[in-house]
Amino acid sequence: MRRKLAAGNWKMNGTSAALGELAALQEAHPDPAVDLLICPPATLLSAAVQEAHNGPLMIGGQDCHEKTDGAHTGDISAEMLRDVGARAVILGHSERRAGYHETSEDVRAKARTAHAAGLMTVICLGESLIQREATNTLDIIGAQLSLSVPDTSTGENLVVAYEPIWAIGSGQTPTPDQIGEVHDFMRTRLERRFGAGVGRSVRLLYGGSVKPENAAEIFAVSNVDGALVGGASLKAADFAPIIRALENA
Ligand code: PGA
Repeated sequence: MRRKLAAGNWKMNGTSAALGELAALQEAHPDPAVDLLICPPATLLSAAVQEAHNGPLMIGGQDCHEKTDGAHTGDISAEMLRDVGARAVILGHSERRAGYHETSEDVRAKARTAHAAGLMTVICLGESLIQREATNTLDIIGAQLSLSVPDTSTGENLVVAYEPIWAIGSGQTPTPDQIGEVHDFMRTRLERRFGAGVGRSVRLLYGGSVKPENAAEIFAVSNVDGALVGGASLKAADFAPIIRALENA
């Protein structure tokens, strides 16, 4: 069966002082019953990998370039992430789609390169409020899913995160029924494309204003295999109870 995954996205937050949160998190969960991933800013990757001591806490990047190397000032390649000890990378976060005009085709190209480098990809999808109110959420998700996910995907290297844009950092979350509808739909689509074996092994995360207070309710939804957490992953005191809720789900 799918092993659950609690993933934290620190975004552009954290200097070396934040490494203490990784130590506290590992102290709170020395032997987690779920997979744990923290994606700190690139400047902290090396130190975070050292702090994780090859233990159960995985460290990942927040983006990578679609090319393996070359003249791309400011970018980071999948190989570089792998070289520093990262085991995963978040791709296609809505903040990158919006801020850097990343398309689903771009995300797919990045994911292919990341898979070739041996990284697990957490591919993010999600609808805007306008799209949800126009009630074509499943059309949006279906298109993003088929275009963003490359054929190199397996049950091990692909994780998909459903992150409604209007729920990110807003304190608003969809109802459990709304989350379940999208997650069941993504599962069916993945099974149809990759076959039941792979389709059923891919982990589906929910992301957007996950907090200790709402985690248990979200984790009880069918086909929710964990969470991608922004703000509440920055402090071990907030993330640890979310991990516990996932362990108990
Ligand atoms: P949030 O962010 O938990 O702060 O809403 C989620 C995300 O962007 O992954």
